[in-house]
Amino acid sequence: MLTKRRRLSISRRLTLTYSLILFSILFVFTILTFFGTGYYIMELNLFELETCAGIISDYISNAPRVDQVSFKDMNLSYSVLYSIFDKDRKLIYSNMPDIPFLEITRAGNRKLMGDVGVKRRQGIIYINKQVNIKGTTYYIQTAKGFADIAQSTYVLPRILLVTTVLGTLVSYISGSILSKRLLKPIYDISKTAKEITSKSLDKRIPVDGPDDELKDLADTFNTMIGRLETEFGKQIRFVSDVSHELRTPLSIMHGHVNMLSRWGKDDPQVLEKSLATLKAETENMNKLIENMLYLAKGDNNALILQKEDFSLCLLLREITEETHLTHNQYSISYQCEDNLVINADYNALKQLLRILIDNSIKFSKPPGEISILVRKEAGAAVITVSDKGMGIPRESLPYVFDRFYRVDESRNKATGGAGLGLPIAKQIAQSHGGTLSAESEEGKGTKMIISIPRDKEEMHGTS
Ligand SMILES: Nc1ncnc2c1ncn2[C@@H]1O[C@H](COP(=O)(O)OP(=O)(O)OP(=O)(O)O)[C@@H](O)[C@H]1O
Ligand SMILES: [Mg+2]
Repeated sequence: MLTKRRRLSISRRLTLTYSLILFSILFVFTILTFFGTGYYIMELNLFELETCAGIISDYISNAPRVDQVSFKDMNLSYSVLYSIFDKDRKLIYSNMPDIPFLEITRAGNRKLMGDVGVKRRQGIIYINKQVNIKGTTYYIQTAKGFADIAQSTYVLPRILLVTTVLGTLVSYISGSILSKRLLKPIYDISKTAKEITSKSLDKRIPVDGPDDELKDLADTFNTMIGRLETEFGKQIRFVSDVSHELRTPLSIMHGHVNMLSRWGKDDPQVLEKSLATLKAETENMNKLIENMLYLAKGDNNALILQKEDFSLCLLLREITEETHLTHNQYSISYQCEDNLVINADYNALKQLLRILIDNSIKFSKPPGEISILVRKEAGAAVITVSDKGMGIPRESLPYVFDRFYRVDESRNKATGGAGLGLPIAKQIAQSHGGTLSAESEEGKGTKMIISIPRDKEEMHGTS
């Protein structure tokens, strides 16, 4: 059976890591102190023993005779045991008579410095110094209990070891409390993120803590949720607009199909009218769906532009000629400052201009006086499409590029349209790295301004 692996939280991991580091540092410190103090105290004692041996050696050099009695007068203030042996290792004098002569050989010695040997034995540390005084060899042996030294070197590390364990424990407890408090904003973010669903995108993380990286994280998260909320809202509006737009033609078609099934078979007039309506409505729906797909492609960055170099004036000539043919009651003219060459998608730009001209025709009475003007600006070609039609009210101007926006239903009833023309036009301009903006005055007319970036030098010639 699979058992779920226990998850270690960041706070616990941080605390554990730092406690472990602290423990290791204190532990190494304790070990070093243990050996260091031991070594240092041993050196001090050896120094004392050697000093003692030196004093005895001086005493022998200056004493008139070297025997038991003379040593009794020696006033050695050091608290050490000492023995003096003659060259045959025979005891001359000792302040502790049981001490035997300890032969000190290199192999058994802890250290051997010149003629001084050092040895540890049964809790006692000895040094044995060989001296040559007035042609005679003596051995001076000094010793000291080792137990005191050992005890003093053990107490300190023990205290340190207890401090290490206690210190690590205190650091672990305080660390886990502190890290939990410091990481609280992360728990808050995670909690809020879990609570957020498509229906509660208005939730935000409280950002009232100190100004640090976690506050930045919370701010970033809130901004991201804000953007999601806006985009999600747009999507919902778009879907409801689409269903609304499709419902009207569908119900009209449904009505006509009903009518056809009841009377259409016998009444040729009904049949013809219904078929004409059905055809018109299917065409409308087709156009609507095509437009929506075009916009969706732009949203998904799936629009592929087929860019080529062409003369803007030639495009304008073509489009005005086409408009003359289809709407000959309207007056349309164009003016090209120079024969401008731009690098753009010819068909897309033609569609953009068609949308603007179509609006100018729809919202002006014949002859309309539609004029198109092209001029060069630094790094861009600017095309303005102006009409002297009914214009757009000032309060509606900011919304005309929104999807499905129409200024008012009553004026649009006659013209038809779904309110997708300008959003598509704007998308085309933007996909070329350009802009589309509107200037309008109600009752006077409208001016649409397209700006397309241009890095090609102009072609010579006139329009
Ligand atoms: N030249 C214009 N003069 C007056 N009003 C305009 C003009 N161009 C656009 N508008 C207003 O802006 C609205 C949005 O225009 P848009 O082209 O997006 O939609 P539409 O023309 O109503 O429908 P569609 O273009 O999808 O057939 C229009 O409904 C209209 O009210
Ligand atoms: Mg339009």
